[in-house]
Amino acid sequence: MALPSDLKFLLQQTRPYRLKLWFAVILLILESAVLLAMPWFAGEVVRALLAKSIPGQLLLFWLLVMGLQAVINMASSFTMGSIHQRVTADLGLRVYEHLQALPLAWHQQRKRGEVLAFLHSDVWYISQFISSVLIPLLPMLLSCVGALILLCRIEPILGLIIAAVMPFFFIAVKWITRSLRPLANSASEEEARRYGISEQNLSVLPVIKAFTREEEETSRYRKQTEKLLALEIRQLRITAWLTPGIRWLMAACVIGLLWLGARQVAGGNLTAPELMTLMLYGLLLTNPLSQLADIYGRLQMARGSAARLMNVLGEHPESDTGIREISKLHGDIRFENIDFSYPDRPALLKKFTLHIPAGQTLAITGVNGAGKSSLAHLLLRFMEANEGDILIDGINARDIPLKSLRSHIGLVSQHVLLFNASVGFNIGYGQVAPTQSQIESAARAAHAHDFISALPNGYDTVIGDEGVRLSGGQKQRIALARALLKDPSILILDEATAMFDPEGERSFIAECHDLLRSRTVLLITHRPASLALADRVIKLEAGHWVDVQATGSTTH
Ligand SMILES: Nc1ncnc2c1ncn2[C@@H]1O[C@H](COP(=O)(O)OP(=O)(O)O)[C@@H](O)[C@H]1O
Ligand SMILES: [Mg+2]
Repeated sequence: MALPSDLKFLLQQTRPYRLKLWFAVILLILESAVLLAMPWFAGEVVRALLAKSIPGQLLLFWLLVMGLQAVINMASSFTMGSIHQRVTADLGLRVYEHLQALPLAWHQQRKRGEVLAFLHSDVWYISQFISSVLIPLLPMLLSCVGALILLCRIEPILGLIIAAVMPFFFIAVKWITRSLRPLANSASEEEARRYGISEQNLSVLPVIKAFTREEEETSRYRKQTEKLLALEIRQLRITAWLTPGIRWLMAACVIGLLWLGARQVAGGNLTAPELMTLMLYGLLLTNPLSQLADIYGRLQMARGSAARLMNVLGEHPESDTGIREISKLHGDIRFENIDFSYPDRPALLKKFTLHIPAGQTLAITGVNGAGKSSLAHLLLRFMEANEGDILIDGINARDIPLKSLRSHIGLVSQHVLLFNASVGFNIGYGQVAPTQSQIESAARAAHAHDFISALPNGYDTVIGDEGVRLSGGQKQRIALARALLKDPSILILDEATAMFDPEGERSFIAECHDLLRSRTVLLITHRPASLALADRVIKLEAGHWVDVQATGSTTH
């Protein structure tokens, strides 16, 4: 029988830790073996007591065995705990790496909070399953079988009856808990959604406050919480009575055993110490069985998580098959017959052909939504054109490894994205080990040095989430400095001075000729002052471009 793929996935996660895993299993088996000796000890002690002797040596031996059990228990807890931590760390890292490698389009179609749930709760459920269900499973089964065999030796018929009833018992538990998996799946999805709401809301908190929508947002969060709560209560309704129910059933069995045993003792077929041993074996047998519902619940959660992670890990990362490394780039760019549209959107670029010679500063204008930023993103291969090629220095961009391609392009995007770290860290981000003087000269070039020096801790000032402790223009200057430090052959300034004050923009433009002359620059802008810097100005329109300065301009 082939295993379902999600179970296979769960088992595959144990592969790197196989040795450690078996070590833990062996420790647990030893622990169970020691546990199996307990009823025997108890029986022997009762026997000695009935014979009116004090079993000193036996008790001492028992104590030693208990000590041994403690040592094994310590080792097994540590091993299982460390497997749990390792799986969480390693699987988490794998999922993170994969999420990072997925195309931006994949992320743009999802909520960040929901993506974060893959990384945290799903990884956790899986590692938790491995350490607290999968590893103890075999030892648990062995101790059940061991207890059953030892029980059979004392009372064969009883043992056989229990062995025969057990499969029905498993089937019953499985039947009762059949609705747990869909419930667990829905609960995980709703949980991710709730996480998503909180993540999103906290990052747009100024908007919520400005529009005084706190109550509505609280109620949205409450509704989502209630949805989740309802599912969790439904789960609880099954599991809450199941575990005590099974436990009661097991207790009934043990009491039944006692009753049967007591009759045997009365009939002289069984001694009292044997009955004691029998009962304790019964308890050993029933203990794991009473955990069955809990184990089954965890298995369902882990299977749901496994199915989700399998889906995510099965998504294709950005295509990066290029092998033509480029160490030096002149910056000649050709868009050739590019057709591009976002999924489920009308065509944005139609047979778009444009040549930007190396060293040119090309200003690109056009109404909002004309596709200016998209053009820049196509160049960086954040997404792929449906048709056509982009050639850089005559090489098809698809043939250049992404890392190599992107290392030569500096992007100051319209929406500045900064790390919640120091100014210096943000500026130096593109370099492996930037020196302070490199950072400062980039900041000077971006006209950022003066305001940075005035910050409380200068370049060490931490700027808050997404740079909230800076003004819009200051953020843009830091992003500009960051791009300049990289000294790219192609520089894309996507409305990069839009938030500069007029004076700041004028002085930046007056001094940036050298910066622009040494490279190819795509200057996406509407500002007349910036347009003056350009060698050529084009306007994007209906998927094509027109030369703005040329009179009687033609559409290309
Ligand atoms: N990730 C995306 N998914 C779908 N549509 C998008 C995406 N990004 C931008 N668009 C759409 O593509 C069009 C061009 O966007 P963009 O290139 O940002 O315009 P511009 O920079 O010229 O203002 C817009 O209509 C916008 O709604
Ligand atoms: Mg734009």
